[in-house]
Amino acid sequence: MILIKQTHPTADVVGLDGDPKILATAEAKAAKAGVKIALDHGLAFEIPHPDRSLDRVVSSLVIQHLTTENKRRAFKGIGCVLRLGGELHILDFGQPHNLYTSIVFPLIGRLEEAVDNVRGWLPALLREVGFDQLDVTRRFTTIFGSLSLYRAWRPT
Ligand SMILES: C[S@@+](CC[C@H](N)C(=O)[O-])C[C@H]1O[C@@H](n2cnc3c(N)ncnc32)[C@H](O)[C@@H]1O
Repeated sequence: MILIKQTHPTADVVGLDGDPKILATAEAKAAKAGVKIALDHGLAFEIPHPDRSLDRVVSSLVIQHLTTENKRRAFKGIGCVLRLGGELHILDFGQPHNLYTSIVFPLIGRLEEAVDNVRGWLPALLREVGFDQLDVTRRFTTIFGSLSLYRAWRPT
């Protein structure tokens, strides 16, 4: 969020997390970096924003924590709060994309909530709730496996 605000200083940036302690840490980091962002307490599948009020939604390493049903609820909710034509960007675990990530993927794939991620099912779940033009724009190798950057549009 800090980087987003620094890169787009005129954007109103609002963060959301379900853990008050994480929000306190984020607030301290933002203050240290000298950036002004709003931070809301809430769940990914009960987003406390009005329908069609956001231009973009960025999700970083949260989807892997949700059950399949809550992923559906979260994606549906994101589809509601995004303006028509708005963009969703997700950074999260994805399908293995090289030898190393193929070897370590059982580590993360063992976590029940991450199975959809490592099997490569996030695009299908996003399409199910109406997102389109879905791309995997980048893949990163981490010690825990493959991180994918997804981009999807809410149809106009
Ligand atoms: C791995 S951390 C990522 C933190 C931050 N988004 C980042 O990229 O640095 C996962 C975060 O997801 C949050 N989280 C997990 N389940 C959530 C849910 N259902 N709704 C909202 N936040 C959730 C946790 O509180 C935690 O802060």
